[in-house]
Amino acid sequence: MKIDGVHHRTIWVADDGWSVEIFDQTRLPHELTVARLATLEDAANAISDMQVRGAPLIGATAAYGICLALRVDASDAAIDRAYDRLLATRPTAINLRWALDEMRAALRNIAREDRLAAAYARAAQICDDDVEICAAIGRHGLEILRRLAADKPKGEPVNVLTHCNAGWLATIDWGTATAPIYMAHNEGIPVHVWVDETRPRNQGAAITAYELGHHGVPHTVIADNVGGHLMQQGMVDMCITGTDRTTASGDVANKIGTYLKALAARDNDVPFYVALPSTTIDWTVSDGLVEVPIEQRSGDEVARISGRTAAGDIETVQLIPDGSPVANYAFDVTPARLVTGLITERGVAEASAEGLLDLFPERAEDKTP
Ligand code: MRU
Repeated sequence: MKIDGVHHRTIWVADDGWSVEIFDQTRLPHELTVARLATLEDAANAISDMQVRGAPLIGATAAYGICLALRVDASDAAIDRAYDRLLATRPTAINLRWALDEMRAALRNIAREDRLAAAYARAAQICDDDVEICAAIGRHGLEILRRLAADKPKGEPVNVLTHCNAGWLATIDWGTATAPIYMAHNEGIPVHVWVDETRPRNQGAAITAYELGHHGVPHTVIADNVGGHLMQQGMVDMCITGTDRTTASGDVANKIGTYLKALAARDNDVPFYVALPSTTIDWTVSDGLVEVPIEQRSGDEVARISGRTAAGDIETVQLIPDGSPVANYAFDVTPARLVTGLITERGVAEASAEGLLDLFPERAEDKTP
């Protein structure tokens, strides 16, 4: 997508032909800074420190992390060590394990001297495929937005509420939840986005608002608690979120607070869609509430907040009394029954085992408990 008219992806191989560059998302929205990853540790830290985040981008970064590890040691043991190091960076987004499995499978039967080139080729393919997949998600979601637009009085925008950042900065390009929004905007459908701030790390306020603003999509940032009120007032036509892991039965793990929006949407008959690449489906689990690991992050993310002062400096301040304990659950699970549909690269599936298998029949043999 574009920043000030210039097209970017979120991860790329640098001009030296081997190191990897990313936008450091911890600096957004105040600075657009490129960070260079030159080692396995750089890639692992970029994921755990959330310089990169969002399920598909985490997977792509891990894929390049394997490439960087191979530059030092291309043995089977080194690949396994890199796999384990990267897998341990974040627990919930299943794209991480998917991408690492893809890399290991691509390298397994290849002579050691050919592995480095094969790894870079597979990592690049993972990125290119993600762009195509997100574009397909966009085309399927666009149909829904077109229908909603047709029901609105002429010229009134379709109001979409989204949570966290499932935009192009969470993927390689387009985003998942935002792909239909960008496509609608690009073809002239009036669309307006309610952007949940998404405490504690504010991925909505900092990142979704940044990317929508730089692409010219009308949007309004709201506090996380506002969505229910807007839905009661008829000010939301649909919700679209992303997901970090969706189970084979359609339960959706996503950024903390997603479940509350789905409850409010159900109470107000607002359609609640989840947009996802099939690489985010964990076909090995079915009960999201029991089987998806929920990341718990540092309490500092709740207790403190960073922002730009009037003087232009970035400062972090404490919000809570000294000594108050803090809990920081990073994800929650929205049960399939609250999800109107899963927008995938193959179309919109009912959020159920049957609905997903209709679109992905080749997964019928996968182990589902
Ligand atoms: O903790 P984050 O910022 O990595 O969480 C990201 C989300 O919850 C996104 O909504 C999800 O990964 C989908 S991204 C296309």
